[in-house]
Amino acid sequence: MNTAINNLSVFTSGNTNNKPIIFVHGFPFDHRMWDVQIEALSEDSFCITYDIRGLGESPAGDGQFTMESFVDDLETIIDELKLNLPVLCGLSMGGYISLRAMERMEERFSALILCDTKAFEDDNAGKIKRAEGIKSINESGVEHFVEQFVPNCFSDNFMVKNKPGYEEVLIRSKSSSPIGVKGGLLAMAGRTETTAHLSNISIPTLVICGEEDKLTPPAVMKQMAAIINKSTFIVIAGAGHMAPIEAPDIVSEKIKEFLKSVDA
Ligand code: MLT
Repeated sequence: MNTAINNLSVFTSGNTNNKPIIFVHGFPFDHRMWDVQIEALSEDSFCITYDIRGLGESPAGDGQFTMESFVDDLETIIDELKLNLPVLCGLSMGGYISLRAMERMEERFSALILCDTKAFEDDNAGKIKRAEGIKSINESGVEHFVEQFVPNCFSDNFMVKNKPGYEEVLIRSKSSSPIGVKGGLLAMAGRTETTAHLSNISIPTLVICGEEDKLTPPAVMKQMAAIINKSTFIVIAGAGHMAPIEAPDIVSEKIKEFLKSVDA
């Protein structure tokens, strides 16, 4: 089901009496990156996903986004849908939102899943790269930016062996609003670090990392997982940064197992 909440496109699937789980996508993608997981999980869970403001079907408005406003949007969805202690699952930029949500309101969640993400803020080189991204969108358009950015998000193997799947994602990203994509870059460049808070996270946490993730490699994610009290760290063989798209069934299985263990 598709609903509009505070102008955001929100998608729900499954029985509302089941345990809620919210999926937050990465940049510059949309809610569709979780399609396989939602299909696999909606029998036993109430699955919620949405397009982050400015991406997918959620309008960009003036594009003046911050990580705080992204977390405000997440909070509004929880309030409006009256979700009771949902599990929160975020990938990469969705992970940045999730980690900041842990700092702001961990008590509203029952468990956390961090996929291919990190708790560090952008360093100077990273911030300059974001600025170059904005310049490139202004000068050459969003399609050009996406063509340069997205290949780094996938393993080489996936892009060759699953060309149609890869191109489908690429085409969707290329149709993103330039204002929305620039707003996402600004929000990520301006985000605060959440490393200092990792040791305070007390809910069960699953940390998932694609073995070939070039942006948030296993060594970085393993270190992050080690700091979180009740964490389980898993590596998805052969997958890159977009593990839920590249190895969808294994990722679904791992999330299912985790949800069972949390319920037990
Ligand atoms: C993402 O997948 O959300 C982005 O790669 C995150 C980033 O650029 O830091």
